[in-house]
Amino acid sequence: MMKLDKQSLFTAFHESFGITQGGENELRLFFAPGRVNMIGEHTDYNGGYVFPAALTFGTWMVARRRSDRKLRLASLNFPSTHECEIDHLEYAEEDAWANYPKAILAHLQKHGYKSNGYDLLYAGNIPGSGLSSSASIQLVTAFGVMQAEGHRTDLVQLALIAQESENQYMGVNCGIMDQFTVAMGEEDHAILLKCDTLEYERVPLRLNGYKILIANTNKSRGLVDSAYNERRAQCEQAVESLKASFPELTVLGELNAEQLKANLHLITDSTVRKRAAHVIEENDRVVASVQALKRNDLHHFGQLMSASHASLRDLYEVSCHELDVLVEETLKQQGVLGSRMTGAGFGGCTVSIVAEDQVDACIERVGSIYRERTKLQADFYVADIGKGVYEESE
Ligand code: GLA
Repeated sequence: MMKLDKQSLFTAFHESFGITQGGENELRLFFAPGRVNMIGEHTDYNGGYVFPAALTFGTWMVARRRSDRKLRLASLNFPSTHECEIDHLEYAEEDAWANYPKAILAHLQKHGYKSNGYDLLYAGNIPGSGLSSSASIQLVTAFGVMQAEGHRTDLVQLALIAQESENQYMGVNCGIMDQFTVAMGEEDHAILLKCDTLEYERVPLRLNGYKILIANTNKSRGLVDSAYNERRAQCEQAVESLKASFPELTVLGELNAEQLKANLHLITDSTVRKRAAHVIEENDRVVASVQALKRNDLHHFGQLMSASHASLRDLYEVSCHELDVLVEETLKQQGVLGSRMTGAGFGGCTVSIVAEDQVDACIERVGSIYRERTKLQADFYVADIGKGVYEESE
């Protein structure tokens, strides 16, 4: 892929859309990161805690306003370009990736933020799946258009509009974690977020000699959206059953592990029981892991990450062979404190805490055993924690 600096992106923009053609001249460049979730998986739509961080990988968007109510979309990552009317932004299967920006424009309109058309060029460097490339496209679009229109931008509100567009337009019942992190991330910090109240705290990721290592399974993900929506429905079913003891209960995140244990018999379906147990124990793990980090106990932080993976594998059942192999083999290496899948699951990436001087050896060994055991090639990245969405200046 080409270099993603301002000059190259502007040149690519002019190649896609021409110099002025129907547009106003000024080009603006925006960036939104991807994210890695350190711990707290499948807790966000249950009103629980998550602990994600923004990456320095992400999506750039070059934007130029138009006055003729047309929306034109191009990407350096996908060959197809798309054109539609700003007054007709309905979902269309054949629009593939372009449905994400269309969804954002449609939902901004719904909230009263109108525009007269745009040429938008995207370029991203987020590897694989599981690191929120979709939330990155959503937020770079929402933020860029709001800035270009001169609207006041409340980042939390933009995150909520982006989540709404994913729920209602894309039909994925995701929680708020990805969009919130991509909007609100800060360099070298993870965000402890309570997903029902949106109370949050940015916590320094002090890793003293350790690194965050991301490994991409490179496994294609298949039917992840339907499995995701099914998990969410099972959690709602658990809430319904538990209402016999807690009539006011709205989300599983309101309960602690003891309360669940005493009332587990109310959930008759054994699969739903496992789902509820994961959510509530994972929630407790997030709180414990942030306490561990604050007292510089990275060993305990790592143990909680590994316990999170076991629970996602055995109770929530969203892991897969490839993720399990990466985690299992990573945990066998020297200097590894913890390892887990990150994101929705069924493929995508793992995140591990590895001693700085062991990173290269770890990548080499895990990479080769992974190849043997899965016939796939994993990619590894030492993650830098970056900031949330912004406009690139000079
Ligand atoms: C996806 C969703 C998030 C969250 C995670 C699982 O990334 O978009 O809202 O539910 O899966 O923790």
